Amino acid sequence: MKVLFTGIQPTGDIHLGNYFGAIANWVRLQHEYTSYISVVDLHAVTIPYEPSEMPGRVIDLATTLYACGIDMEKTILFVQSEVPGHADLTWMFNAITPLGELERMTQFKDKRDQFRASVNVGLLDYPVLQAADILIYKGEVVPVGEDQVQHVEFTREVARHFNSRYGPTFPECQALLTKSPRVLGLDGDSKMSKSKGNTIGVLETPEKIWAKVSPAKTDPARVRRTDPGTPEKCTIWSYHLLVTQEPELTEIHNGCTTAGIGCIDCKKRFQANLMKVLDPIRERYGELAGSGRKMVEDRLEANAVKCRAVAGETIREAKGKMGLKKVWKIES
Ligand code: TRP
Repeated sequence: MKVLFTGIQPTGDIHLGNYFGAIANWVRLQHEYTSYISVVDLHAVTIPYEPSEMPGRVIDLATTLYACGIDMEKTILFVQSEVPGHADLTWMFNAITPLGELERMTQFKDKRDQFRASVNVGLLDYPVLQAADILIYKGEVVPVGEDQVQHVEFTREVARHFNSRYGPTFPECQALLTKSPRVLGLDGDSKMSKSKGNTIGVLETPEKIWAKVSPAKTDPARVRRTDPGTPEKCTIWSYHLLVTQEPELTEIHNGCTTAGIGCIDCKKRFQANLMKVLDPIRERYGELAGSGRKMVEDRLEANAVKCRAVAGETIREAKGKMGLKKVWKIES
């Protein structure tokens, strides 16, 4: 099986954008690949954060990923900072990476503008660490969102640079773009994102979710209950596409265009279908965060041991090619 690698930052609660845009795919793909998923805490420290909150965020994210269907037996889910080789390989890659390539990265430019007061070297070097993440396991397939494609292309460049300088060592990986549409935010204007405060969290209670969904904007043309609407102009319709099956989907589409159903009815049906997806996740999270906590911790620990072994092999190989191993047993 080919090696799949992906990473996710422990920077906030998982929402529908993360779930339908990425995690649900990883759950499907774990059956087809040798899958590594990393909670990338070393990436997360490149922007301002509260150290005392980090351990909780890391374990919460791992628990949420398991609750979402990441399989303990199938996927090697681990915490990045538990595997020292990532930072080692980053340094080796730094030495062959042209500065200009990093300065061109879109995400760097965005974050530099966003965190003007605290632009550290780590923010610039972020893609090199990401390349090390992938290549240390000789990852070939990298399922990510649109915004990470540039970093995956950069990873290919790094592999090429290394291979041409030191000899064939790393594969050239491919981004695997998901077919799932970008999930709109509750404001309807932009994609769902924690920084915009327009999210529905996968672990939120039905009551909390309804408090967000019921006042959400719909097609502005539906001022009165009797006004027909255009589902394609409605955020809630885009959500139905994620959770509602046929024939109900067609029924709702027709209901909207003929004013057969009102927006509140439509939202209620969305909420009911969404909860069919989220109730089991929330329940499983409850179990794993309670009596299952030790099992999650033990598994992360065991996976880190596995990763250190694989990563160690790659580090040994890379060091050898770079002339960094002990070949200088020079007799005096
Ligand atoms: N940069 C990615 C993001 O913000 C997270 C990430 C870190 C990652 N290392 C990775 C993704 C390796 C894929 C492969 O979403």
